[in-house]
Amino acid sequence: MTSYKELGLVNTKDLFKKAVSGGYALPAYNFNNMEQMQAIIQACVETKSPVILQVSAGARKYANQNILRNMARGAVEYAHELGFDIPIVLHLDHGDTFEICKDCIETGFSSVMIDGSHLSYDENVALTKKVCEFAHSQKDYVTVEGELGVLAGVEDDVSSEHSSYTEPSEVVDFVSKTKVDSLAISIGTSHGRTKFKPEQCTKDANGILIPPPLRFDILEEIEKQIPGFPIVLHGSSSVPVEYVQMIEKFGGRLADSVGIPEEQLRKAAKSAVCKINIDSDGRLAMTAIIRKVLSEQPEEFDPRKLIGPARDELKKLYAYKNQNVLGSAGQA
Ligand code: G3H
Ligand code: 13P
Ligand code: ZN
Repeated sequence: MTSYKELGLVNTKDLFKKAVSGGYALPAYNFNNMEQMQAIIQACVETKSPVILQVSAGARKYANQNILRNMARGAVEYAHELGFDIPIVLHLDHGDTFEICKDCIETGFSSVMIDGSHLSYDENVALTKKVCEFAHSQKDYVTVEGELGVLAGVEDDVSSEHSSYTEPSEVVDFVSKTKVDSLAISIGTSHGRTKFKPEQCTKDANGILIPPPLRFDILEEIEKQIPGFPIVLHGSSSVPVEYVQMIEKFGGRLADSVGIPEEQLRKAAKSAVCKINIDSDGRLAMTAIIRKVLSEQPEEFDPRKLIGPARDELKKLYAYKNQNVLGSAGQA
């Protein structure tokens, strides 16, 4: 049994309170390896931003849960060494069973998501409540994110062809019965790099897909029902066209890529949305640079020369997001 405090981590409680009242969102960046972790910490220290390091079920399988958790400890020390102690949360992304949440809570995670969004409403309430009771009864309170409404897209263990928006009339009941600390909602975002079908979009003069707007009317209705309650947006990558074009220029194929425009994320971050999840943009940034280096330097075979520049690009991207999209810069 390891408490997250022993690793130097914090839960989301105070961070969310400050973010909701301050009109900004915390970055929740997924990581699976050392270079992603380094880039996240470099960017967040440089911009003095608190950060949520997210581990998915897929990341646990890929990198090993113990290694990732010790990397989170390393992240705390790395930030200190870089000269500024930012608050760091270690969060389980899309936990789908009580057991996986319990395992994370007992091994040093400071926050977990229990994603019961694919269950019936009553089953979602029961599972989320069970996780909250366990997480909140720990010596050091572990925070829990629940989800209402379904996002389209595919994750390792949770997938759905179609989204269904969060029903604002359900949120008061869900939050009061489960005692969740934050609520992920569905207002039109989805996971991955193809967030909308081309037929749902318009095109600009350059043929770039322009997506339909998020359902801010639903977000406003939810905020009216649970004023000031911390809201989470998943599937919030912008899918930058420059990275998609760079990947395609150097041999990749990423047809019909489209993300969430930055101005919509800026607007969301000013509301009760206090956690914005980003994974795909980091994947695109790293892939773009790795493809470029491989193509321009065909004799290179030192992995550090491929992944190092990709790490630098990732850091730049995350610093930009903290400063110009989420508003978390300077809030640590
Ligand atoms: O929500 C999904 C995240 O992008 C994690 O993706 O399950 O492939 O690690 P993953
Ligand atoms: P993206 O695929 O838009 O980056 O979303 C990531 C996410 O929601 C992780 O939980
Ligand atoms: Zn997600």
